[in-house]
Amino acid sequence: MSNRVNTVPGDPIQAGYKAWLNYKRIEPGESNESPAAWCSRIAVNDKSSSVVMDSAVSELIRGIEAMLGRKPVIVSLEEAAAGEGGYLIIGTWDEGGALLDRTFDGQAHQAIGPEGYAIRTNRAERCIAIGAQTDAGVLYGVFAFLRLFGTGSAMDSLDLTDHPVNSLRMMNQWDNIDGSIERGYAGKSIFYADHEITTDHERVRDYARLLASTGINAIAINNVNVHQFETMFLTDRYLPAIAGLAAIFRAYGIKLFLSINYASPIEIGGLTTADPLDADVRQWWKEKAAEVYAAIPDFGGFLVKADSENRPGPFSYGRDHADGSNMLAEALLPYGGIVIWRCFVYNCKQDWRDRATDRARAAYDHFKPLDGRFMDNVILQVKNGPMDFQVREGVSPLFGAMEKTNLMIEFQITQEYTGQQRHLCYLVPQWKEVLDFETYAQGEGSTVKRVVDGSLYGNRHSGFAAVSNIGSDANWTGHLLAQANLYGYGRLAWNPELPAEQIAEEWIQQVFGACNKKLVQTILGMLMASWSIYESYTSPLGVGWMVNPDHHYGPNVDGYEYSKWGTYHFADLHGIGVDRTMKTGTGYTGQYQGPNVELYESVATCPDELLLFFHHVPYTHVLHSGKTVIQHIYDTHFEGVERAEQLKEAWASLNEGMDPSLFAQVADRLAEQAVHAREWRDIVNTYFYRKSGIPDARGRTIY
Ligand code: GCU
Repeated sequence: MSNRVNTVPGDPIQAGYKAWLNYKRIEPGESNESPAAWCSRIAVNDKSSSVVMDSAVSELIRGIEAMLGRKPVIVSLEEAAAGEGGYLIIGTWDEGGALLDRTFDGQAHQAIGPEGYAIRTNRAERCIAIGAQTDAGVLYGVFAFLRLFGTGSAMDSLDLTDHPVNSLRMMNQWDNIDGSIERGYAGKSIFYADHEITTDHERVRDYARLLASTGINAIAINNVNVHQFETMFLTDRYLPAIAGLAAIFRAYGIKLFLSINYASPIEIGGLTTADPLDADVRQWWKEKAAEVYAAIPDFGGFLVKADSENRPGPFSYGRDHADGSNMLAEALLPYGGIVIWRCFVYNCKQDWRDRATDRARAAYDHFKPLDGRFMDNVILQVKNGPMDFQVREGVSPLFGAMEKTNLMIEFQITQEYTGQQRHLCYLVPQWKEVLDFETYAQGEGSTVKRVVDGSLYGNRHSGFAAVSNIGSDANWTGHLLAQANLYGYGRLAWNPELPAEQIAEEWIQQVFGACNKKLVQTILGMLMASWSIYESYTSPLGVGWMVNPDHHYGPNVDGYEYSKWGTYHFADLHGIGVDRTMKTGTGYTGQYQGPNVELYESVATCPDELLLFFHHVPYTHVLHSGKTVIQHIYDTHFEGVERAEQLKEAWASLNEGMDPSLFAQVADRLAEQAVHAREWRDIVNTYFYRKSGIPDARGRTIY
């Protein structure tokens, strides 16, 4: 089970390249009425001309042409109103003329804010209007309209307004200038090759379209681990080409950010220090910011991984994260730029013999004491859990703990620890659990989603970030069904209230078509079951890891047990788990607030799925489910393999009526998943049988 590069055979279009912007042809009779009646003509107000509006118009034409088989014509408002039949009108309120104003009242204007949109069928005027305050809002409105169109909504009665809940909806690329992608499982970078920035702007533009269609409005285009060549992104060597990428994203309402190397003043500036309180260093960053903004006037800002996993940072100079981030924030402030400072800071050179140091504690211990010291244009980016994107772990206790600091959440769409896009694992249900988590920071209702949308503490900046899962593979994500995670992330960042099922269904309908109900329901069932299936045959009860070191694929129960990374399970002949209680363990439970402290502190109340994350217990400990820990391990691992087989069978039942190339690529992945699930099962079960000496109550084969 080595780490390998994925390829997708076959015609790129058939292989899923168009993803959810497939705009599948709607055959006559499929829809309730003739959408063509509304969509053969498009009126755009003349004054609404901008790159974003151009994108909106061309997307609308592209989508309608593909779905109806006839290209709509652009007409003036007068022509539209005078001619026969219906038409579409798009624009911003103040530029859209009287018609938009007659279609939408002041209430709609108020409700949607700067990035929202309204869509309404105006039967009296024979039009469907898509209106917004800004061009970006119009673009989102167009994508929403095309989604409604493609998923079978009735065109004659559209009436909705929508706006994003989170102001920052960001994608983090972990792409390197040599073309590799850290934790990438879908081929090479679409941004870089051989130490140069790509000239294949078409592919980048299609990515921008995919992102914008889900509501993403920011992107950091390089890995948070910034190496020698990427450090030079801030110089003339690369800046002009980066400005070219920024222009592509700009046309889709997406701001470009760069990950920077904290030691840049030394590595490219010729200084002898990167001390944040050194006057020359501060001046150097100010001049750098000026250069960057001269090249990219709407540049978003810097994303920074500092003092983390051997990356340089302010600690080298006896300074803290507030000193480091504020220095950069000061340089960006005149241009409206922001600093996104990651909280993934822990001791990665731990001694496994030392049971007092707890990696889970680290982010809180480092950052909580700094609350109130960060400038207003600094945002702390916090991973969803305190460890590292495991299939199951607690929620980071930093959410809710920083009353006076801007915070955003970081998810990992790329499936580093959740099957690396070789296994199916739809992550939206996991993310929703995190977002719905009650922190009790300000009493009940202080959910994580309210921390990250800024409403709990009234933050100016906040939102979502996630590590992308795309690469040069024809279908973007290697595993076709992993596209649902990319799509779902954007939709959730737009509105965390959207149900995971709805998001999945939208994605399925747009990729495969809405009319085959059996197909839609079958894939929906597969996606919704997949996280639990993956969890069941991998590491049990929240303990995490148990993977092969470095590439993190495949089972290796002791892979990290005696390493420096702080990721232990402490299994011995008696029991397993990490004691993170205040009473006898690392004290991590004390970082939570309100009733959560006692919930996790007590083995009696700790939820089963997190038991081994919080407690070290004997194998004979009885879970709330009524099973012992050891029997739970055996049962879930046997069931997990059976359920992985069922995924394979469910997909096989869709053979007829599906594009053969789409069918084949998923069938291959599911076959591999079933085989590798068995490997997980047998290694994990055998390991614990040999450690504990306790046989399976049901007498199944363990080796
Ligand atoms: C994980 C991952 C690294 C990555 C790091 C990070 O540890 O394995 O590849 O650099 O997270 O988030 O910075």
